[in-house]
Amino acid sequence: MAKQKLESSLVLIKPDAMKNSLTGYILSQFSQFHTGLRFAALKVVAVNQSLAEEHYAEHKGKFFYPALLQYIRGFLHYPDTPQKRRVIAIVYQGINAIQTIRDICGATNPHEARLQKPGCIRALGTVIPLHDDKGTFIGNRSDNLIHASANPQDAEREIKLWFLPTDIPPIMRDIPTVTSKYCYYYKNNSISAQYLRRSFCFISPGDIVWRSDMKVINQLTNGKKPSYSINAVIAKYLINREIEKD
Ligand code: RTP
Ligand code: MG
Repeated sequence: MAKQKLESSLVLIKPDAMKNSLTGYILSQFSQFHTGLRFAALKVVAVNQSLAEEHYAEHKGKFFYPALLQYIRGFLHYPDTPQKRRVIAIVYQGINAIQTIRDICGATNPHEARLQKPGCIRALGTVIPLHDDKGTFIGNRSDNLIHASANPQDAEREIKLWFLPTDIPPIMRDIPTVTSKYCYYYKNNSISAQYLRRSFCFISPGDIVWRSDMKVINQLTNGKKPSYSINAVIAKYLINREIEKD
């Protein structure tokens, strides 16, 4: 029998799913009645460049990476309507949530998804050819409607990237947190414990912060090498905050 493990997973309802009015369908596929999954957090996000880059950091350098960033940011499906460029980010929790969700999604490539498991969510996606500047075919883009965390390590990284601890009810939080004693400010890709002109305070005394983020903040403010990027710490604090200029 499969091991019973309570897990959390990040799901993103991508812009092509929004455009094709598949949000309700996707939510019903994951409904607690059928799957045992429970909502732990949910928000509508206009995806900025740094969040897109950080989320898909593992794909940097691949031929589809630039198109992938444009895709998750909504530029490909909403070129002329910036107000529609958004995704729905969800944390689901449940027994074996990660694999349960991946099974309902199906294979990454919608053509394979259709062959392997008719009826899975990604069977409704599309495959679009990509070309370089000279018009030469370089491979396909998979518009596959949905993102789902691949394993527990990715799930933790992704949940911490997209959500603040306080977006999740305390009893459902399964990633360690700490309470900040100090104020921290952000400006121009740098974090400071002192106010600088035009910086903003993103953490106040008493705020609950992901423990690993606080470690990175301490490393950065003490001039040490951070365990992960400043971008991964700050992205969630910038969600729906900055007005996009592009
Ligand atoms: P996701 O992260 O979105 O849940 O998808 P996944 O684990 O099934 O696939 P992953 O390898 O992590 O790829 C992330 C997204 O990049 C696009 N992709 N295109 N053309 C290609 O060979 C290719 N491979 C990946 C897809 O949009 C995929 O969801
Ligand atoms: Mg993936």
